[in-house]
Amino acid sequence: MDIAYFNGTFMPRDEIRISPDDRGFLFAEGIYEVVRWYQGFFFEMDGHMARMKRSLRETLISWPEEDKFPVIARELVKLNHLANSQALVYLQVTRGAASRTHAFPSPPVGPTTYAFAREFTPENAGRESGVAITVKEDIRWARCDIKSIALLPNTLGFQDAVSNGFFECAFVRNGLITECSHSNIFFVQKGIVYTHPESENILSGITRKNFIKLARREGIPVKEEAIALKKLSKVQEIFITNTSGEITPVVRVDNFEIGGGVPGPVTRMLRERFNDQICSYKHS
Ligand code: PDD
Repeated sequence: MDIAYFNGTFMPRDEIRISPDDRGFLFAEGIYEVVRWYQGFFFEMDGHMARMKRSLRETLISWPEEDKFPVIARELVKLNHLANSQALVYLQVTRGAASRTHAFPSPPVGPTTYAFAREFTPENAGRESGVAITVKEDIRWARCDIKSIALLPNTLGFQDAVSNGFFECAFVRNGLITECSHSNIFFVQKGIVYTHPESENILSGITRKNFIKLARREGIPVKEEAIALKKLSKVQEIFITNTSGEITPVVRVDNFEIGGGVPGPVTRMLRERFNDQICSYKHS
């Protein structure tokens, strides 16, 4: 039986009841976070905590228990017998339940908080051979830096990608590639790694930040500059990053082959450095 966290209590997931007047349901008014458990530790919990607090601040949602999230996440891993597994822990926080009106509830109500852990099996085939992605217009709002639960453009884009046999969907705004439906995107051109700068047009990925650090540590220059869709033919490698997939090589964008259709040396090297990093965490 799955045990989840709901408004301060650990309980069977099946027994959780959320009000139909929850503002997450009525207005998609909430934030979320995802952390990965590597058989013994959470990767970059501090970074995820900082981003979660920022998302709460920017959406004016108050969760007095926010500092307890690392303890809640660990407890979920334990209660669901996942300590020796790979797992993901999701946290969702909404402004809470109140009679429907655009104005915030007055007097204020407590937030609705829900967290769950689930076993996770990394998808290794694509990570080895590389994946194909498609491109779509970025129709998202102007605050993509907030990890909001309002993900309709992301789910529409991703579903369209999957229905057409693609692994992910990259978004283009004003001719520039921003990020993907649930990952950040990097390009390698003449030995330099490019990725969209932090701005209100992308989510600042925890994995993104880590790969920028790993690349720089290896002496590879990183420029936080966006790449134009029409300049894709100049690019030798592409990879995407997120918490669950770590780093995934991209070898085709729609019908356009990248790097001869095989993962390139920079991507492969960064993947190895990441694996080393995980091993060193395990042994520390
Ligand atoms: N998504 N960009 C978007 C739009 C995302 O949704 C995500 C993460 C990222 C990568 O962020 P990070 O490296 O911190 O995971 C970038 C998670 C995995 C999700 O929605 O499940």
